[in-house]
Amino acid sequence: MKSAEIRQKFLQFFESKGHAIVPSSSLVPANDPTLLFTNSGMVQFKDVFLGNEVRPYKRATSSQRSVRAGGKHNDLENVGYTARHHTFFEMLGNFSFGDYFKRDAIHYAWELLTTVYKLPKEKLWVTVYQEDDEAYGIWQNEIGVPAERIIRIGDNKGARYASDNFWQMADTGPCGPCSEIFYDHGPGIWGGPPGSPEEDGDRYIEIWNLVFMQFDRDAAGTLTPLPKPCVDTGMGLERIAAVLQHVHSNYEIDLFQNLIKAAARETGCTDLANNSLKVIADHIRACSFLIVDGVIPGNEGRGYVLRRIIRRALRHGYKLGQTKPFFYRIVKDLVAEMGEAYPELAKAETRVEQVLRQEEERFGETLEHGMKILDGALAAVEPGAELDGETLFNLYDTYGFPVDLTADICRERNVEVDMAGFETAMTRQREQARAAGKFKMAAGLSYDGAKTVFEGYTHLAAQGKVTALYVDGASVPRVEAGQAAVVVLDRTPFYAESGGQVGDAGVLVGGAARFDVEDTQKIQADVYGHHGKLAEGALAVGDTVDAQVDEVRRARTMRNHSATHLMHKALRQVLGEHVQQKGSLVDPDKTRFDFAHDAPMNAEQVAWVEAIVNQEVLANTPVQSQLMGYDDAVKGGAVALFGEKYGDEVRVLDIGFSRELCGGTHVARTGDIGLFKIVAEGGVAAGVRRVEAITGDNSLAFLQNLNATLAAAAGALKVQPGDLPARIGQVQDQLKGLEKEIAQLKSKLASSAGDDLAASAIEVKGVKVLAARLDGVDPKSLRETVDQLKNKLKSAAIVLAAVDGGKVSLVAGVTSDASGKVKAGELVNFVAQQVGGKGGGRPDMAMAGGSDPAALPQALAGVQGWVEGRL
Ligand code: ALA
Repeated sequence: MKSAEIRQKFLQFFESKGHAIVPSSSLVPANDPTLLFTNSGMVQFKDVFLGNEVRPYKRATSSQRSVRAGGKHNDLENVGYTARHHTFFEMLGNFSFGDYFKRDAIHYAWELLTTVYKLPKEKLWVTVYQEDDEAYGIWQNEIGVPAERIIRIGDNKGARYASDNFWQMADTGPCGPCSEIFYDHGPGIWGGPPGSPEEDGDRYIEIWNLVFMQFDRDAAGTLTPLPKPCVDTGMGLERIAAVLQHVHSNYEIDLFQNLIKAAARETGCTDLANNSLKVIADHIRACSFLIVDGVIPGNEGRGYVLRRIIRRALRHGYKLGQTKPFFYRIVKDLVAEMGEAYPELAKAETRVEQVLRQEEERFGETLEHGMKILDGALAAVEPGAELDGETLFNLYDTYGFPVDLTADICRERNVEVDMAGFETAMTRQREQARAAGKFKMAAGLSYDGAKTVFEGYTHLAAQGKVTALYVDGASVPRVEAGQAAVVVLDRTPFYAESGGQVGDAGVLVGGAARFDVEDTQKIQADVYGHHGKLAEGALAVGDTVDAQVDEVRRARTMRNHSATHLMHKALRQVLGEHVQQKGSLVDPDKTRFDFAHDAPMNAEQVAWVEAIVNQEVLANTPVQSQLMGYDDAVKGGAVALFGEKYGDEVRVLDIGFSRELCGGTHVARTGDIGLFKIVAEGGVAAGVRRVEAITGDNSLAFLQNLNATLAAAAGALKVQPGDLPARIGQVQDQLKGLEKEIAQLKSKLASSAGDDLAASAIEVKGVKVLAARLDGVDPKSLRETVDQLKNKLKSAAIVLAAVDGGKVSLVAGVTSDASGKVKAGELVNFVAQQVGGKGGGRPDMAMAGGSDPAALPQALAGVQGWVEGRL
């Protein structure tokens, strides 16, 4: 059975059991700072499990693209060494949100495996969490799995709930005991059942994990029961495909075969079983999909994980002898393989290639050098010994070798790495990276009160009750004047940062208390934290406050946000429909908009976008928002933004000719935006452009400023501003004319000086010797003068010097009759050495420079004697 059919059958089976088929979400989890990448099917449903979000269905099924690299679940190091580890894989899953629980989850799984996929029952083994008698009972009594094939696994990883049979998404979030189904690949392969000493062998392979979600784990490690127990299951498509295609390694399934061949083609490797090909085939999937989902190689966070994966692939290419960029050429093979199931991949093909190629070219330069350094260092390390931390750090810092890359190479040579030494050397850099990569959201504040009702779409002032207060991350009952704090209200007009729009500032006033709000950030999905300082009085939980948003700041921000929607649409009209939002920042000063596009915008395109947006502004149409079903909204033409998480009910914003899904705050009519002006355009990464634009009073200030600059320039040149370009042209022409004139004058001056000089030459053994100084003459004129003197004196050895500031220029010339004995190069060097310089040239003409003008007179005085000595 082909992978595509396995995927299809899975979704259909669960659809027939009342599950909604939900599309895969992005690899970059929307609005979730706790997770690096989507690492399983449940990620997009996290808030549903936690009870923070409600969907119209209680059962869902999906095939989710997932990456396990760099985060809590990190398989990067194992790829290439095992039969079934991947950085990228597809996870098939079924989910129950407070609907069915263990019984149905187990029955469904068994039915699908044994009747649809027709796996022999006796080949299936199961595990349950040690304490989970209920799951054990279902497997044994209802499904009929014999007791010897049901294994209990306890807290086998050293701490409470640290178990192979207790699953958690990340350090915090939903989690619960799980039951895993294993497939026995038969006695021909080494390995033992789960829990046995040989469990790491390849005979018994986990194919499906049924998680019984029961708890929410907080940062302190405390488990709180979920509002309702849920089900989350995950079956790696590649693993089940291996079973159903009767191959042992995932890399032998249909999905991988063409990629491995492509990797062989591009690296010139003829052994299709070479592990490096597997690494490349695995990594091209992860890297391409990460780029599709908006990640760009960089030095921190997600971008650095992507960079590490790319560099690991390149190193394996290098190992196969490929030193030129090759990795990006495999993108087209991946598109051929997976483009149909993932149209977004096919669409992004060129961009993915560009990003990869750029990264390959960048790393290519240092890979070879780094490998030489590493090979040199490894030659001195005995197998089994350790490579020192300094070398690890040097390779990282100077040659861009991620430390896991170096460790990977060391592992091949049976050498350990001194991670502690590396960490010491790294501490400073790491702190910087951490500061830069810190997520802004005030996550981690524990809160279980009411959600905040947001009133800021229609009001800028509202009354709210304080439901929680935090100082230094800890919940407090009361805040005193002078303290910095986070205030949570039950209702607020303050917009909390999201969708690129910054949080509101303003003030909360209650009795004698006055709290200055500097920023508003969500502390949970619908819980708004007002960050700031209590300026006066005291504030306690339960107090009522008047919340007043800074109106000017908000009005500016709203103008910029509404303008962003219009600009997005205008960019698509002018540059093409491929323009896709890659990020945005809307604050009171500007809108900054990043989008996918391959070339810089020219002035005409910029002007065109400005004209289109301003036309919409002048039309002054009312802005409308409405809530509707996600599918209807998208069908109705609304632009859903990449990487954003949308509920099933979404807010659709109609602004002029644009329709987008957006939770932000906007102007009432397009005319409120005022003049829209683009002030900057540039590139931020391969295939990503950035435009900055301003509106309203910011545009006015910008234009007034520009006007003042223009007036000052016009005043200085004594023309009307409109005549400036013509006047500047004139001035430039004049300048050019003057420069030419100066050059001519200089050369005339030099030649008349030459006439005088000729007279002062002294004849020595039939050759006229001349050593003189012509200050202020440039080297070119010096040379011309030497030529003239040679003509005039017929038989001569000449040195001319000029001093300009602290620099000495020297030119020596010798006529051909004398240049056999007196070489101009030697002559010029004779002088140059004495003035702190050095030079050379042909026997008849040579030039030099020096830095010690004070020594020049004496040096020139010696020329006559020196020449005499040679003749
Ligand atoms: N979320 C579970 C896993 O990834 C199903 O194993």
